[in-house]
Amino acid sequence: MPKTRTVYLCSECGGESHRWQGRCPHCQAWNTLVEERVQPKGPSARIDPLPSTEAKPVSLAAVEGAERPRWRIGLNELDFVLGGGVVPGSLVLLGGEPGIGKSTLLLQVSARLAAAGQRVLYVSGEESPYQVKLRAERLAEPTDGVLLLAETSAEAILERVEELEPTVLVVDSIQTLYTERLEGAPGSVAQVREVAGALQRVSKRCEMATFIVGHVTKEGGIAGPKTLEHIADVVLYFESPTGLDQRIVRGTKNRFGAADEIALFRMGASGLQPVENPSALFLQGRQDRASGSAVAAALEGTRPVLVEVQALVNRAVYGAPQRVATGFDGRRLSLLLAVLERRARLRTGDQDVFLNVVGGLRVTEPAADLSVVAAVASAVRDSVLDPGAVFVGEVGLGGEVRPVSQLERRLSEASRLGFERAYISASTDGSKTRLPLEVVRVRDVGALIVELFG
Ligand code: TYD
Ligand code: MG
Repeated sequence: MPKTRTVYLCSECGGESHRWQGRCPHCQAWNTLVEERVQPKGPSARIDPLPSTEAKPVSLAAVEGAERPRWRIGLNELDFVLGGGVVPGSLVLLGGEPGIGKSTLLLQVSARLAAAGQRVLYVSGEESPYQVKLRAERLAEPTDGVLLLAETSAEAILERVEELEPTVLVVDSIQTLYTERLEGAPGSVAQVREVAGALQRVSKRCEMATFIVGHVTKEGGIAGPKTLEHIADVVLYFESPTGLDQRIVRGTKNRFGAADEIALFRMGASGLQPVENPSALFLQGRQDRASGSAVAAALEGTRPVLVEVQALVNRAVYGAPQRVATGFDGRRLSLLLAVLERRARLRTGDQDVFLNVVGGLRVTEPAADLSVVAAVASAVRDSVLDPGAVFVGEVGLGGEVRPVSQLERRLSEASRLGFERAYISASTDGSKTRLPLEVVRVRDVGALIVELFG
């Protein structure tokens, strides 16, 4: 047995240092080094029981399977964020807070893939087979085809993989696994790095799709070294924007499709149900008769999503007026208020302004500016906006309203949901396309106010 030694590993980049330092010399992050005991790398330091294939260089033209079929899970929203289904040999990392539904989602995925003929091995390091069974019984999907293994030793899991040759492996969670070759508790930087690396090598070699559950830190990132996200082909974050039964799976990295796509689910009595119509979900419960409400046509990834923006403006009672934005950048709100004050004489300088994007989405696109301006103006005037109108446009410092990308797609979605009118930038090039609803072209915020309130 080689002697163990103490090293300091960076929890950001996984870089190794021999003494503690305030700043990681590899990635320059502050205060990220953690003390861990590891063994020197020797012939036995790798934990793959499978012999590595002697890889030889091949011509790209000779690489077969460029159009390899993907395995569709049948949970359409999830297939969509994955870029069209599961890619054999890929590694998918799913992060999220405790209790949000990671195990439930992956058990549903396992059941569906097993029913579609895949050999699925579900490894639980957190729960006993009995607990997993209890969850399985609640689901709509029959889980009979899923092989279950309660194990935390990486060596034992890899041995089972070798023996059973699954085509799909689920690991719940990476923080509970450990390899006997390294000292240190499960979940430590070295352990997570080593086990994840071994899982990645095995999935690539055996063309096995691997799903890994990752816990998240207080800051919301996946716990463990950043290398975990680097080795994964797809990184998904599970969020609950409202704390209710709504769930969003957000892709932050995807080697096989567009990143930044979202999938919507609802947690019900029998597991997670995909929500096929996100806009309808975000618009539900909208009050047509209240002032301060405007609808934006935003893009989430490549999909247009309609969201309601609400503003409340009230006389500031305590000292400096407050500006509070939820789901929208607070500084951008201040900027838009300044533009309204200077360019459209709409004063909010002595007022508290609250802004809320309903449904828990975060809108970061400048294309939502016009809806924010409309909502604030409506609140200041205490005048209700046309409930059948959407607002799409970026607002510049001069008060000008600028065109946005993908206008047609946004307006088609609005029209599909029954909206009849859209306020857009006057400089939108309208020669090429026919827009699906009535448009009102506004040059600047002043013109918008005139159009809205006369
Ligand atoms: P779980 O998948 O265990 O979360 P995680 O693995 O992310 O920690 O989900 C647990 C929660 O989901 C728990 O509060 C119960 C709830 N739940 C339902 O509401 N409906 C269901 O059908 C299932 C299986 C769970
Ligand atoms: Mg779990």
